[in-house]
Parts: sequence; C-alpha cells; structure tokens
Amino acid sequence: MTIDTKYINHLINVSSKAALASSYLIGKKDKIAADQAAVDSMRTELNKIDMNGQVVIGEGSLDEAPMLYTGELLGNKKGPSFDIAVDPLEGTNFAANNLPGAISVIAISEKGNLFNAPETYMDKIATGKIEKGLIDLDNSIKKNITNLADYMNKDISSITACVMDRPRHKKIIDELKELNVKIKLITDGDVLGALYVSNPKYHVDIFLGIGGGPEGVLAAAALDTYDCYFQGRFIFDNEKDINEAKLLGITDLNKKYELKEIVKGDSIFCATGITTSDVLSGIHVDGNNYTSETLVTHKNSNLKEIIKRTDPIKE
Ligand code: FBP
Repeated sequence: MTIDTKYINHLINVSSKAALASSYLIGKKDKIAADQAAVDSMRTELNKIDMNGQVVIGEGSLDEAPMLYTGELLGNKKGPSFDIAVDPLEGTNFAANNLPGAISVIAISEKGNLFNAPETYMDKIATGKIEKGLIDLDNSIKKNITNLADYMNKDISSITACVMDRPRHKKIIDELKELNVKIKLITDGDVLGALYVSNPKYHVDIFLGIGGGPEGVLAAAALDTYDCYFQGRFIFDNEKDINEAKLLGITDLNKKYELKEIVKGDSIFCATGITTSDVLSGIHVDGNNYTSETLVTHKNSNLKEIIKRTDPIKE
C-alpha cells in the first residue's frame, strides 16, 4: 500500500508551520516555550488533515505532555489510518541559544508500521548503503571502521565519524582517535547527525553513539528512503524503563533492531529548518510571508528532496 502523495504537502505544511511558530522564540533562552510553540502548532495543523492518525512517538506520556502525547489521536477522522512520530522541536538548546541545527520533524507510516519506541536512550549506528553484515553494534569500533573503509575503498584516515559530544562516548571517541578517523563532534541534534550519512555532500561516513530512542526512529524513517543502513538498540538501565518496555511488549531488552523492523512499508518524513544548519536553511520571515526549507522523503515514490517554499504567515 502507498500513502497518497497529497500527504507530502500536508506534512510539509505541518513541519514548516511548527518551525515558524518556534522561530519566534529563537535566541530567547527559553527552550520550553520554543518547544511548546512548535507542539501547539503541530497539533492544530495535524487535526486539519483527513486521517485517523495516532501518535506512536510524541512528547511523552499523557501525564507529562498534555499535547502530542504517545497514543493521542489526531486528524479529522475522515481518512486513512496512520502512525505518527513527532519531534516538533529537535534541538531545543539550538533554538533557545540561536545556534545552527534546530529542526521540526514529523514522520508517518501506515498504521502499525512505525516502531513504538520507548522514551529511553538508543545505541545507534548509521551509514550510507552498505552490504549486509559489515557493520554491527556488537562489532568493535575498529572492525566497523575497517569494514567500512574497505567497502568504500577509502583509507581509514579519510573516514569521517559523527558522534555526539557526551562523556558517555569517551571510549568511542578515544578509539576513533586511535584509529586516526576524522571525528565530527555534534553538541546536540542526532536526527541530523544520523542523516548526514545520507548524502556524500555532508562528508560523514558513519554516525555512532547513544542518543534518544524516538530520535532514532525518526532518523530511520528518512534513512529508509535513502536506502541507508541503520541499526539501534534501546538502553533499559532502570526499573522504570524496564517496566515501560514490558508494557510496550518488548521481551528481549537487548535486541538490536534493523531499519526494516523500525520502519515498515511506505512512509513520509519531513524536517524543516528552524535555525540554519549545513542541511537546511532556517525560517526567514519577510513581511507577511515566511520562507522555509524542508527535507522531505517519501519511500514509495523515492522522493528525497529539500523543498523550499514561501507561504503566507496567516492564511
Ligand atoms: P531536545 O531537542 O529534546 O533537547 O533533544 C536534543 C538531543 O540532542 C537529541 O537530538 C538527542 O537524541 C538527545 O538530545 C540526546 O540526549 P542527551 O542530551 O541526554 O544526551
């Protein structure tokens, strides 16, 4: 089954309006307000769409997030059934501090096809298209990098690995340094971090490390259309997360998920720039109009494009 292409425009509208709403709070040192603006806008716009949507990845559970909570029903109930994953403001620090890389993200699939990810960390690994079996979370860093370099016919010293700058990644970073790999450290925003592997123009060959599980599912939705490689393993290291996993029906807490287990069938992914990054320009307001750039993928039509639009601020 294919998701009707009319939903591409609907979703660009949703993420670009959320990005616009958040953009008014860029540099205001208030990440909660910037996030709330994006959440409110996304919810309003999603409810206008002909669909029976259900949030599978949202802003938390009902008690901690009054809107766009996991399980929330969205849409005007007049259309097909979709799973919805949202990160209305990905990179809250970037928006609050006026730094590059804040984006507004949404992905949909047909009902039941997006992994219902718990709100835990995920150990992730992403590369461009590779042969099966070359890269694995259980391999040593050295083995993964050597395999990738051989496959890409590159010298290890010219491989670039993107990693989030976190104390928990010290061992990975030390090992990459030892191997003489080029390291690209990012301070936040591992949806974009993982997406760098989708196109050689971003000069990242592999993304590694631990970040949010929901962000992992969102990145996987886009990487699927690019035919990239992605593997993730949730980290359940406390009683609360273990219980949540059990409630979600996860029995093997150490399972490694391949991309096709995270995103099945057709999907649409949209990420709109809020602040400018090396992937997307941020929102630009000019009088009564605003210009946005959205990275859009649609699996079944093999669409993977950055779409620039100018729209009226008020319709
Ligand atoms: P927010 O937009 O919610 O602040 O998340 C930013 C982010 O960097 C994600 O991209 C990433 O997955 C996660 O935070 C990493 O979490 P932590 O900051 O706890 O390492």
